[in-house]
Amino acid sequence: MAYLTEEDRKYTTPEDICAHVGDEYGKFMGAVVPPIFQNSLFVRSTEFNGVPPTPYSYSRVSNPTVDIAERKIAALEGGDGALCFSAGMGAISSAILHFARAGCHVVIVDTSYGPTLGFVKGYLHERFNIDYTLVNGSSVEEIRDAIRPETRLIYLESPSSMVFRMQDLGAVSAIAREKGIGTVIDNSYATPLNQNPLKHGVDIVCHTASKYMGGHSDIVAGALVSRREIIESIQNNERALLGNNMDPFAASLLIRGLRTLPVRMPQHAANAEKVAAFLESSPKVKQVFYPGSKTYAQNDLFRKYMKRASGLMSFVPAGTWQEVVRFTARLRYFQNGCSWGGFESLAIPMGSDADSRAAGRPENLVRLHVGLENVDTLIADLDQALSELPDA
Ligand SMILES: Cc1ncc(COP(=O)(O)O)c(C=O)c1O
Repeated sequence: MAYLTEEDRKYTTPEDICAHVGDEYGKFMGAVVPPIFQNSLFVRSTEFNGVPPTPYSYSRVSNPTVDIAERKIAALEGGDGALCFSAGMGAISSAILHFARAGCHVVIVDTSYGPTLGFVKGYLHERFNIDYTLVNGSSVEEIRDAIRPETRLIYLESPSSMVFRMQDLGAVSAIAREKGIGTVIDNSYATPLNQNPLKHGVDIVCHTASKYMGGHSDIVAGALVSRREIIESIQNNERALLGNNMDPFAASLLIRGLRTLPVRMPQHAANAEKVAAFLESSPKVKQVFYPGSKTYAQNDLFRKYMKRASGLMSFVPAGTWQEVVRFTARLRYFQNGCSWGGFESLAIPMGSDADSRAAGRPENLVRLHVGLENVDTLIADLDQALSELPDA
């Protein structure tokens, strides 16, 4: 658990925050890269022979390397503090559990990340009698209507990560606040560079840091950012009791990834904008889903809440499911993989069957992550692989 210091608050741009917040060269013998405190234990956590105690005792509770990652992420999102976790799902499940109580009700956007839905529908509902209502999320009225007297949480993911549906963060937060209901958002797609939900009244912002924040496809990690009393409570309850804290080595890789986040994100967006424009102009493509595109269905919300889109998009190519699968196999630069947010481009066919309909996505959808390769190479790769499909 780390809170922003007065010194941290002096850094106000993402570039300066990523380069300097929490690094404290004086504390670490001038090391420009902070050390990895690979300790489980810190002795002298109480005053000893007149020597003041160290703030650290045991790394499940807190660790100096993890603290630095937390301070950078808290500063980027504009919260009082942050908590880092062993996975994005650690942050998300802890945020949900912070608000959940036996017998309560949760309103959750139906295009949220699959395991998040699984946690609410399959785990909390079946084991702990917590009821839920799935909402499309694009209408504020629908969310308002779903609220019951026992609702304790509205869970948002905006944009979502398959069809990139957005929610009106300010309007939903205002309704929730008026009724004393908590709000949590998965902000992983946008990253703190492109959207800051706390400013619009959301209570907890969650991230999978396995994606853009880490940026190199070499860690599984998560983080949440909020105000002091919520951070304190999750630190003492969900994180300390479930033991889903981040380890110091992952924190060091995360800090390294964060240094270049402000450089990588505009490049992902620039490449993806060109790829989306190419797909939209292709006779082999039926539909493109990309918040950064002119044809994006929720452009008003995009302009209201986001600075720019990222590298993730999806589209429906022409052809049968088998033809779509063969199209992805013909790609040479886009590897077949389910994650995203790293330097590498990825393409994955999402399914043709009832699962797609149940998950609220069109059949034959292909999700693309546009990486940091040369964009002309990427477009040429898509072009050659699309050429064998029928026209839309
Ligand atoms: C949108 C979104 N949120 C959360 C997660 C979970 O993150 P993690 O894999 O770090 O637990 C993922 C992982 O793919 C994701 O895509």
